[in-house]
Amino acid sequence: MMTTNFRLTCADPVEKQQPVSFTFNGQHLEGYAGEPIAVALLANGIKTIRTCEVTAQPRGVYCGIGHCYECRAEVDGVSHVRTCLTPLRGGTTVSSLSSWQIEGAGR
Ligand code: FES
Repeated sequence: MMTTNFRLTCADPVEKQQPVSFTFNGQHLEGYAGEPIAVALLANGIKTIRTCEVTAQPRGVYCGIGHCYECRAEVDGVSHVRTCLTPLRGGTTVSSLSSWQIEGAGR
């Protein structure tokens, strides 16, 4: 079961959705299959997905529709994945981007 409840009540009963496990920075979490990874993170109380490579300020969901790239993370070994557009699957590994993964970091 989810350890926190930051979900909005919606028309689809939660009971119809398939719970799956995933990790974020090594932390074991639960979400629902098919929901955007960013939604699963928010539902677990996680708002900071990465930090800005220049200012080190926290970054997370901003537009929620794939335009701003603020929600980027490494997903199953692939860098720069927009978590607001990527469906969650069971066993998915999500990690904050490291500065070496960000083109131009340190310039
Ligand atoms: S929140 Fe803007 S691209 Fe994901």
